[in-house]
Amino acid sequence: MGRIHVLSDQVANQIAAGEVVDRPASVVKELLENALDAGATRIRVEIEAGGRKLIRIADDGCGMSRDDALLAFERHATSKIRSSDDLLSIATLGFRGEALPSIASISRLELTTRPADEAMGTRLEIAGGRILDVADLGGPQGTTITVRDLFYNTPARRKFLRAETTELAHVTALVTHYALAHPEMYFELHSATHTLLTAPPVREPSERIYQIFGRDTLDQLLPMAAERRFDHAGIPEPPPWRRDADYVPPDPGYLRIRGFASRPELQKLNRNSIFIFVNQRLIRDRLILHAITEAYRNIIPPTSFPVILLFLEMPPHEVDVNVHPAKTEVRFRQQALVHDAVRESIRVTLMKTRPAASFLAALNNSPTASSSLVPDSTIGDSDPISEAPDSEPPPLAGEATPFTLAPPRVSPQDQPLPFSAAPAALASAGERASSAVPGAAAASNGHCSSQALPEGGDLPPSLHSLASLKPLGQLRESFILATNDEGLWIIDQHVAHERVLFEKILRERQTERVERQRLLMPMLIDVLPQQMVVFSTLAEELERNGCEAEPFGPHTIAIKAAPAGLSGGELERMILEVLEQPATTAQSDNLESARTRIAASIACHAAIKVNMPLDPARMEWLLQALARTDHPTSCPHGRPIALRYSWKDIQRAFQRI
Ligand SMILES: Nc1ncnc2c1ncn2[C@@H]1O[C@H](COP(=O)(O)OP(=O)(O)OP(=O)(O)O)[C@@H](O)[C@H]1O
Ligand SMILES: [Mg+2]
Repeated sequence: MGRIHVLSDQVANQIAAGEVVDRPASVVKELLENALDAGATRIRVEIEAGGRKLIRIADDGCGMSRDDALLAFERHATSKIRSSDDLLSIATLGFRGEALPSIASISRLELTTRPADEAMGTRLEIAGGRILDVADLGGPQGTTITVRDLFYNTPARRKFLRAETTELAHVTALVTHYALAHPEMYFELHSATHTLLTAPPVREPSERIYQIFGRDTLDQLLPMAAERRFDHAGIPEPPPWRRDADYVPPDPGYLRIRGFASRPELQKLNRNSIFIFVNQRLIRDRLILHAITEAYRNIIPPTSFPVILLFLEMPPHEVDVNVHPAKTEVRFRQQALVHDAVRESIRVTLMKTRPAASFLAALNNSPTASSSLVPDSTIGDSDPISEAPDSEPPPLAGEATPFTLAPPRVSPQDQPLPFSAAPAALASAGERASSAVPGAAAASNGHCSSQALPEGGDLPPSLHSLASLKPLGQLRESFILATNDEGLWIIDQHVAHERVLFEKILRERQTERVERQRLLMPMLIDVLPQQMVVFSTLAEELERNGCEAEPFGPHTIAIKAAPAGLSGGELERMILEVLEQPATTAQSDNLESARTRIAASIACHAAIKVNMPLDPARMEWLLQALARTDHPTSCPHGRPIALRYSWKDIQRAFQRI
């Protein structure tokens, strides 16, 4: 007898379930996507014991007839595609015909469903993939699926489940993200004891963000919108001899980018706050993550991540969604175009607003690990779609004591979901402020405000106004104090100059006109063998940046010319810093990162230092030069350059308003 046999459907379904369902949130994802595909306008999700005991999703979509309901639990049964050609233009979230049979094979499942055109609906009961009961049932139009005792017959999987709160947090994150992607729909999420989310339909994604997370979050995010026409090349077309006289070539269509990018002050320790939707499908994608990192390069530190909500819309033939069993990855036909369009639209958004850090924002801007667009900070590891697990350091709330000038946060709704540690820190800082000065809150504002204060509201922080700054002097010969209509500013003189030089070097490098000075005597620097290897890969780029150098024996480099403003110890330190990079990075495909690293290093070493007295003319020059840069917000290493103590904060602190 042969050794090979075909597996039963039940085992095959359990194997498929292994790929598709790894935790309760993946069940919720599949059932949510089915409801969306069914044209639902209202989706209600209920969870008990983190989804282990019960997951129920009710929708008001198209429902199923009895025959369809039974077929839906067959492997590879779907209403969404018919032929392999359809795979080229998938417009639904599901298409594999696998989710329901997989979920049914590892749980006790109940389905009730009624299509609009039938008076009577159907109720099905399935356990471990076996149908136990089929009956007629009245009820509203739509479908309700209840999944009980998930993994009850796959103990190995059950062991991998995390604490109930962690699983619940994953489910909450998932439902929240789908609610963000579909502002036009009604979403509800309930646990056994609370309502975790109620989101009635709204018109704009920004209204949804406000509805779910509140005003503070919305203020931290910059809206973006862009459009790019796809290239025509490569779209499948009939050969010329098979085209009719009136043949019209297919329209390549547009890539539409919408979404929100966080201001540079808002930084996260992991990628869990980056959400990418392609044609309304939540995905993870290395290419787009790379484009996002590139957009924030030299604006935030390389170890920090922004908060991003990105919605990409493109014609279905531009994206292959059939590359991952859980449908969480896609492949773009025009990868470079998508990558560059995302990078550029974020860069343009960041550049246009040129936001300045306010005192409080800067104090609270240490990167946090909490996934800020997740309304539950208990998530300690990845959600079903996010990157590798990240550990959660203690919250940073409460570190903002030195500047206790902000009022408590005014909640935009009765019970907004907490967004991140920052608003909490703001609120508690405000509370501490009023309690620190006994009776301060009770003191009459009008009591001592006999002199009229100049008008001027709290303009949104912007660095456009840097050009109007007038320097007052220096603080410890390291920070420039300056004022304008917006308030009082503190500018870090070293990082400000670093940003000015960095952008100047990159500009001049492009036109091959970096200023350089010949050294009277070549400067000799001893290096290690691996540094010599890195040097050989970077010598040309260094030369373009004004640094002419060549090997001088096996362990020595001779510098003959240096970028303007750099000499002596600083020149040597700059070279050693650049050569510090491992050879692999230097040789990597990403020449641009080597280029910016060298420019950043030169800028850092040539820039005005702290503890350096500056005369008023020089301070004014520096502020003007900073105002002209593209990104005056942060230095090339991502540190903030300017802090603003707004006029409103000043008035508030003196209890004038
Ligand atoms: N909530 C629902 N309302 C109406 N019909 C549904 C619903 N859920 C599932 N169906 C029907 O059942 C079929 C099977 O669902 P299932 O999720 O197993 O596969 P799919 O969505 O087609 O593909 P995938 O496995 O990629 O999700 C669907 O094609 C759809 O016709
Ligand atoms: Mg499905």
